[in-house]
Amino acid sequence: MERRKVIIDCDPGIDDSLAIMLALASREIEVIGITIVCGNCPVDMGFENAKKVLNHLNRLDVPVYKGMEKPLIKEFVNALDTHGQDGLGESFLENVEGYEQDIDAITFLSNTLRKEKVSIIAIGPLTNIATLIHTDLEAFLNVEEFISMGGACHVPGNCSPVAEYNYWCDPDAAKLVFRTMKEHHRKVLMVPLNVTRQIVLTPELLEYMKQVNKVQGDFVEKITKFYFYFHLTWENLIGCVINDPLAVAYFINRNLCAGIDAYVDIETQGISIGQSVVDTLDFYKNEKNAHVLTSVDEHAFFEMFFSKVLDIPEEQLKFEV
Ligand code: RIB
Ligand code: CA
Repeated sequence: MERRKVIIDCDPGIDDSLAIMLALASREIEVIGITIVCGNCPVDMGFENAKKVLNHLNRLDVPVYKGMEKPLIKEFVNALDTHGQDGLGESFLENVEGYEQDIDAITFLSNTLRKEKVSIIAIGPLTNIATLIHTDLEAFLNVEEFISMGGACHVPGNCSPVAEYNYWCDPDAAKLVFRTMKEHHRKVLMVPLNVTRQIVLTPELLEYMKQVNKVQGDFVEKITKFYFYFHLTWENLIGCVINDPLAVAYFINRNLCAGIDAYVDIETQGISIGQSVVDTLDFYKNEKNAHVLTSVDEHAFFEMFFSKVLDIPEEQLKFEV
């Protein structure tokens, strides 16, 4: 089976880190680079955190590139309240020196997309992607598939009653990406809160991870401890919603989720800023520029996640979600 080449554009970030763990454990894909965008944490912190995760996985061969430090227009608002002061659940893992690249994320994206067929798995705000569109549209349109964790379709947001963080953090970038995909008759594979909210890592599942593979389970516990506390305090939830790994999982196995094709636009001002407006009933009669996921098989997701991240055959897994 040919491994599909991907670039992960992210803001690590606790759930971004779990997504990186899943991606690097997946034989179906080859991660040829990780690009960092401002989001959960400032871009320099995200760069350090990506290296910490790669160091844990013994995969510092994967290059990491720094991207945009602030949104296109909106003032930058990080999510360190959710991800901890170090952006990695206040695990305060040892810094990994070096591994600086001589080009930035946008240049890497442009060079790579011009050279070969690569897909982008975007699990942070879309500032890097929008900047690539502004600076090298031809390269962006060369992308094989573009998948984005973001938005919410007729469910509450997590940053406002209607807006999800990635599209709220940089709504102008998200708007440009969806508009560009529409203009060029392409579709965003959109992984919204509708489906990611159903992916809850519970204390029982975390304990199971530790039993099956102590090294990986302990690492996941280290970086999610703060996240569990955040969810209990603010969402009265025992467990933590791990949004980003679902984008990787769905990229690998489309049977995990069902979805609909729809026209999507992003609000960039006012009380609904960052809202993803999903025209499910085709009011606007616009070309459909997104495949919006609407349901997920949580158990199948965790079977893939545990099997790959814990390195155990799926048939040996015994857990309930
Ligand atoms: O709203 C959830 C998304 O925002 C996730 O990607 C999380 O990492 C944050 O970036
Ligand atoms: Ca993220």
